[in-house]
Amino acid sequence: MLDADHAWNRLLGVRNAADAARAGLVHDEDWRWSEPATAEATTLAQRYTPLCVEDTPCAFAQLGQSADGFIAPHTRHAVYVTGEEDRLHLHRLRALADAVVVGARTAVVDDPRLTVRACAGTDPVRVVIDRSGRVPRDRTMFTDGRAPTLVVADRRTPPPTDGVELLRLPGTGALDPSALLAALAERGLARVLIEGGGVTVSRFLESGALHRLFVTTTPDRLGGGVPGVSTTALGAPTRQFPLGRDLCSEYVRPAYASAGTASKSSCPTSTRSAPAAHSSSLRAR
Ligand SMILES: NC(=O)c1ccc[n+]([C@@H]2O[C@H](COP(=O)([O-])OP(=O)(O)OC[C@H]3O[C@@H](n4cnc5c(N)ncnc54)[C@H](OP(=O)(O)O)[C@@H]3O)[C@@H](O)[C@H]2O)c1
Repeated sequence: MLDADHAWNRLLGVRNAADAARAGLVHDEDWRWSEPATAEATTLAQRYTPLCVEDTPCAFAQLGQSADGFIAPHTRHAVYVTGEEDRLHLHRLRALADAVVVGARTAVVDDPRLTVRACAGTDPVRVVIDRSGRVPRDRTMFTDGRAPTLVVADRRTPPPTDGVELLRLPGTGALDPSALLAALAERGLARVLIEGGGVTVSRFLESGALHRLFVTTTPDRLGGGVPGVSTTALGAPTRQFPLGRDLCSEYVRPAYASAGTASKSSCPTSTRSAPAAHSSSLRAR
């Protein structure tokens, strides 16, 4: 009987349909193992194989949001909005990614490590979009030596230091998410997780550069704080799955692109309740 640990280790090696077949995965109505497997191993196959076999380059994002649509409280302190199972899901997404991208504000406020700790897997290359040079060089991702770290740079970005490599892209100010994905793909980083915060994920979403979006919604309300993404214009999620008491909604690009997302049309109801503070426009938050 294939158990979850072995199933996950096999999934880590899957990059396309041929890999999937070699790993013992088959697709009929859904992805499943060709041999007897535990319920958890079956869940892993169904949940992550579509991402593993996605054409590259590809970008996928994950945000944990409160029932009223916020990803962090007003204090902006690093807190987990969602539960332990969503954290495991996030670490699995990191393990399946070649690179993980965060915005400058998340790097400043959360000081995240962006490493894979809750499951087996290799740490992705860490990328922070810091064109105004506001992220201090004492952040953990610059100093822990766990994985290479790139800073998407501008004129204002301080020069490289030990542990910090600059990635210079044409232009100043607002960055075209597709140009970043192309530059990462040139470096062999073809699967990219956009991990937050709300502004960064929204910019990828608006530009149409995101292939998949996972929004995990907790039943709790924050009553205010840092807005996440609005999902109204994305239409119905491609699928949903429970993560403990939270609910993860997965949106896959063809479905939401046809709903007009890339053209900044109106947006989001979370799958639980519409955030009162969110307007109907899919704008950067
Ligand atoms: N619940 C979750 O899943 C989750 C996940 C991650 C973070 N968070 C929380 O989210 C909060 C931060 O989120 P946030 O929305 O305020 O900010 P953010 O997305 O972390 O950072 C936004 C900043 O990143 C830079 N940036 C991002 N995309 C850019 C682009 N395309 N072009 C140019 N610059 C770009 C800009 O920096 P400049 O303005 O300096 O140019 C922008 O202001 C924190 O409180 C953190 O705790 C929650």
